[in-house]
Amino acid sequence: MSALQRADFPEGFSFGVATAAYQIEGAVTADARVPSIWDTFTASPGTIENGDTGEQACDHYHRYAEDVADMRDLGIDAYRFSIAWPRILPPGGRPNSAGIAFYDRLLDELLAAGIAPWATLYHWDLPQSLEDEGGWAARDTAYRFAEYAGVAAQAFGDRISHWITLNEPWVSSFLGYASGLHAPGRTDHAAALAAAHHLMLGHGLALQSLRAARPAAHVGITLNLTHVEGPDDRPLHAEAIRRADAITNRIFLDPLLRGRYPADMLSDTAHVTDHSYVLEGDLEIISGTIDFLGVNYYSPLVVTSGAYPGSAAIGIADRRRPRSGMGWEIDPGGLTKTLTRVTRDYGPLPLVVTENGSAWPDVVSDDGAVHDPDRTAYLVAHLRACLDAITEGVDLRGYFAWSLMDNFEWSHGYAQRFGLVHVDFATQRRTRKDSGDWYAGFLTTGRAATMREASR
Ligand code: FCB
Repeated sequence: MSALQRADFPEGFSFGVATAAYQIEGAVTADARVPSIWDTFTASPGTIENGDTGEQACDHYHRYAEDVADMRDLGIDAYRFSIAWPRILPPGGRPNSAGIAFYDRLLDELLAAGIAPWATLYHWDLPQSLEDEGGWAARDTAYRFAEYAGVAAQAFGDRISHWITLNEPWVSSFLGYASGLHAPGRTDHAAALAAAHHLMLGHGLALQSLRAARPAAHVGITLNLTHVEGPDDRPLHAEAIRRADAITNRIFLDPLLRGRYPADMLSDTAHVTDHSYVLEGDLEIISGTIDFLGVNYYSPLVVTSGAYPGSAAIGIADRRRPRSGMGWEIDPGGLTKTLTRVTRDYGPLPLVVTENGSAWPDVVSDDGAVHDPDRTAYLVAHLRACLDAITEGVDLRGYFAWSLMDNFEWSHGYAQRFGLVHVDFATQRRTRKDSGDWYAGFLTTGRAATMREASR
């Protein structure tokens, strides 16, 4: 197989890296930032591996210039980061100019380095005071989010080319409010379904705020979509596949792109809620036209039918295929299928892979380098999967590797490393990994990539 080249991708395709505020910034009390649900959650014993918190993280708040220099050296076109709501707009208060000034500095540094800023407004750091009033399970949070979006658009809209309202509302609602694995750590299924709806309402209202303030802005939303399949082709898995697809993918895709909830998802969840949180007019707001859809893809979802015939339970299957450090099955073909499925079922729309990557137990070797061939192989295979989707007619506009650097990986703390750049959290020393060298070579030389990747 010939080596992958940047020139294989369409003209104007954006290559980048992605991060999120709470995972990298640290400085949680600097410049009048107010607490978020992640500050509260990580302070509660037993929630995070090793008791880790985002208090220091990568200290990006102070080291942003060094990090932008690393991005420039990688040769990326665009940087996807998130703005911390708790830094910008304390609920019930006035916009915080000291917090805004941090993103001003970051944006100026990025633009000077020739990197296009893509900003996510909500990557899970809800101000704690809003959670105290019901969080995303409460309708009012959607309106508060739209206010914050308006403040961000006013402050930064002259420099931000692309906006992403929400990152992965499935994770915010179901891991935050149903399983309790993420902040705010609630375990209430009805609250999770209400949260999913209010997040999407917040998306639609924020879209309106952004468009009002910045008519030329490119606005999208990022969903964690996945390809759902059975461990084998037996028809007995079909019901589990349908249910899992409804509650992970279609619960967001349908309201966003069709202006209605999937009927099967509503009936599957009827024993939990009467869905009375959906008010007249909400779906028109949620289905306001977006400029692109962000897709985060890491792994397929392999499900089996329930424990006994007719059971609604969805089992998670292990097909004994290679897995990354997170224990997630590696399946680049699932990315191609996810992208082609959206295009086939919802019509052609611009798509962007806003996150994709893999964690491995990286160490700095005696030679001073970080040898991470598994991450490079994952990256190459998934870039090829993107090319396959483009060949199949998907209007794919960009690819963002997760992540620029090792960071606070939510409930796993610092135990899982996703970066193209290694971070020694004791010293904050950054070391570009071999995978980062590969990406830089791919992006900057335009010539055949240095590594002859293993065939798929
Ligand atoms: C995604 C999150 C991102 C990161 C990756 C590994 O679900 O959006 O912040 O943690 O997983």
